[in-house]
Amino acid sequence: MSELKTNVLYFGDNLEILRKYIPDNSIDLIYLDPPFNSKKDYNILFKESGGVDSEAQIKAFTDTWHWTQIAQDTYHEIVTKGPLKVGKLIDALHDAIGNNDVMAYLVMMTIRLVELHRVLKPTGSLYLHCDPTASHYLKLVLDQIFGPANFRNEIVWCYDTGGRSTRAFPRKHDTILCYGRTDKAGFYYDNVALPRDPTTMHETVVVDSHGRKYQRNIKAGKEYRYYLDKGVLPNDWWHDLQALNPAAKERLGFDTQKPLALLERIIQASSNEGDVVLDPFCGCGTAVVAAQKLNRKWIGIDITHLAINLMRNRLKDSFPSIQFEVIGEPEDLAGAKSLAQQDRYQFQWWALGLIGARPLGEKKKGADKGIDGIISFIDEVGGKARRVIVQVKSGHIGVNAVRELETVAKNDAIGVLITLEPPTSPMKVEAVDAGYYHSPIWDKDYPKIQILAIKELLYGKTVDMPPQTQTSITFARAPKVSKKGGEQLTL
Ligand SMILES: C[S@@+](CC[C@H](N)C(=O)[O-])C[C@H]1O[C@@H](n2cnc3c(N)ncnc32)[C@H](O)[C@@H]1O
Repeated sequence: MSELKTNVLYFGDNLEILRKYIPDNSIDLIYLDPPFNSKKDYNILFKESGGVDSEAQIKAFTDTWHWTQIAQDTYHEIVTKGPLKVGKLIDALHDAIGNNDVMAYLVMMTIRLVELHRVLKPTGSLYLHCDPTASHYLKLVLDQIFGPANFRNEIVWCYDTGGRSTRAFPRKHDTILCYGRTDKAGFYYDNVALPRDPTTMHETVVVDSHGRKYQRNIKAGKEYRYYLDKGVLPNDWWHDLQALNPAAKERLGFDTQKPLALLERIIQASSNEGDVVLDPFCGCGTAVVAAQKLNRKWIGIDITHLAINLMRNRLKDSFPSIQFEVIGEPEDLAGAKSLAQQDRYQFQWWALGLIGARPLGEKKKGADKGIDGIISFIDEVGGKARRVIVQVKSGHIGVNAVRELETVAKNDAIGVLITLEPPTSPMKVEAVDAGYYHSPIWDKDYPKIQILAIKELLYGKTVDMPPQTQTSITFARAPKVSKKGGEQLTL
């Protein structure tokens, strides 16, 4: 296995990535927030036809949390090759629960938690974010993998957002299970202590000989001093960090996005500057953004190009001079073709990412029917937004596809057709005949219809459009983030 790389986003199934890239005892802190019954898919590595390893990854059409052949094989692997105690537990649970979605979720989680335990340093900690649907089963699994003595906390994160039941008390908390790899796992009180509120104790505030303020409590003749500047740790129920409401500034439109403040508390409690933080289910990247802000190194893994695309933009918006690497995306035409064959949507999301376009998702209505992605920009005095609309085609297409795009793009500034196959001559002619979009701000003409072949995009070609500097409104932009103790980062 090669040396650990940090400040990296990996596209792919975290089980494969952990086994391929993350060495034993190399990570200081793991936070994971896996989907439950999310109908997300599962990736496998594949080889090019010539037998050469391809960097590209494809999606297998198996649902992670259903009892499929993969769940059955994983169950078998845990029971026959996993740590003995873990195998025994999973076997017993399987007897009790049977072959259903919960069991599928548990085996898929167990095999990953065994890997995550392997990569943690002896001083490292793991925080598993889940909810009461499965937290009781997951705690059994974690006790077997980490040992009950290394259980640290069951944090109850309370919030008030979302719908409210009338048939039972509204379920308004998530559960975050925390384990240390060993009893040496770091916990940094000073990083997360909150200011002590002197009004909660009925003792008066006294000043010691060094000028420090404290409250005094005398029990059984012994004096206890509570210094105000030392602060006090939050309890294991957190109600001071609300979930993101629909109007929250940091919200990026990713359903399961967690608040930055939650991740900051976890990272500060269990790591120091320079430590490595890993999030193997990183979604739109809250943990990696918090890690970057707090001067930690980080590794993020996600199985969808949608998440990788969002994270790439979020990191660049939050820290304009940031340097990071993305590993596992198609790097060549063969990789792109394989991705397209396996999953049209993953291919679309990846291709849109090549030109910084925002995917519109699967359910497009009304005027957006026929549009796969958009790039927005401001191009008029007074700030009116204009759009480049994008269609992605992975199959064989002809001149009709260009005509169709002309119709769809007639009310927008520019129409872009991304094609897997190189465009034919009639397609090129039709695109040229479509004329120009004139930019009032730049007083310049841009081709109205542009065809970009994947091969050209891989060589760095991009959309010919008005400059986006300071005007990009394509993504819900993450606000710029000041690094802790560092300068405000700007371009
Ligand atoms: C609940 S979301 C994480 C949200 C994240 N904490 C945030 O604040 O944005 C879970 C993510 O795990 C990803 N995922 C699901 N299965 C995966 C797997 N086997 N390997 C890597 N990522 C996976 C999903 O694509 C999704 O983006």
